[in-house]
Amino acid sequence: MNAVKKISVLISGRGSNLAALLDAIDAGRIQGRMVRVLSQRADAVGLQHAEKRGIPTTVIDVKAYPTRDAFDAALGDAIAADAPDLIVLAGFMRVLGAAIVQRFAGCMINIHPALLPSYPGLHTHKRALADGVKWHGCTVHFVTPEVDVGPIIGQSAVPVLPDDDEATLAARVLDAEHHLLEDAVRWFCADRLRVDGCTVTLRPAAAPPPLFCQNPCQHSQG
Ligand code: GRF
Repeated sequence: MNAVKKISVLISGRGSNLAALLDAIDAGRIQGRMVRVLSQRADAVGLQHAEKRGIPTTVIDVKAYPTRDAFDAALGDAIAADAPDLIVLAGFMRVLGAAIVQRFAGCMINIHPALLPSYPGLHTHKRALADGVKWHGCTVHFVTPEVDVGPIIGQSAVPVLPDDDEATLAARVLDAEHHLLEDAVRWFCADRLRVDGCTVTLRPAAAPPPLFCQNPCQHSQG
């Protein structure tokens, strides 16, 4: 049996992905424990999802630090204090520098609202509509120093419908995000992800231990 993984989540706003993860943990679908939710904004309403459940929250106010490196170092120390196994960027709208990314290499993942490598960066739904693509979606990937580029853990595609506007498309993608992020965190916590260069492989789930001996006759054979 794997040990229960400690999870920290970074958010910047509404926190619906965070709420979906908390629901999945509460329902026993993820073998993990959320140890802290962090934000660079004190007014991130998503922090309330954690507070309601008694999960510690920390705000590292970006305005209190003179440089990007100083902010990243403070954020990194605040994360490391809990020694989490997994750090989830769930709508964390700030680019992290190479030092903090390397500090948590292999245990920091991000959800991005597009099918990478299409549409890295911001305004993904607007850009997808402008291009007339027929499929859009979301990606969960390991975080590397280059933004929205790391090894892809999973993707979920949704159709772009003829009457879609930015809001309807964003809502369809967001629903897919909640399911995909839950899957990715569950796989990480079950030690099912193997990273080989740019490629992430999902290993089979461990077989449950047998409840009883399947061939008792063998025991009586001399
Ligand atoms: C999500 O679409 C996420 O992919 C993007 O920002 C949005 C955050 O939503 N980076 P929420 O805060 O999880 O509701």
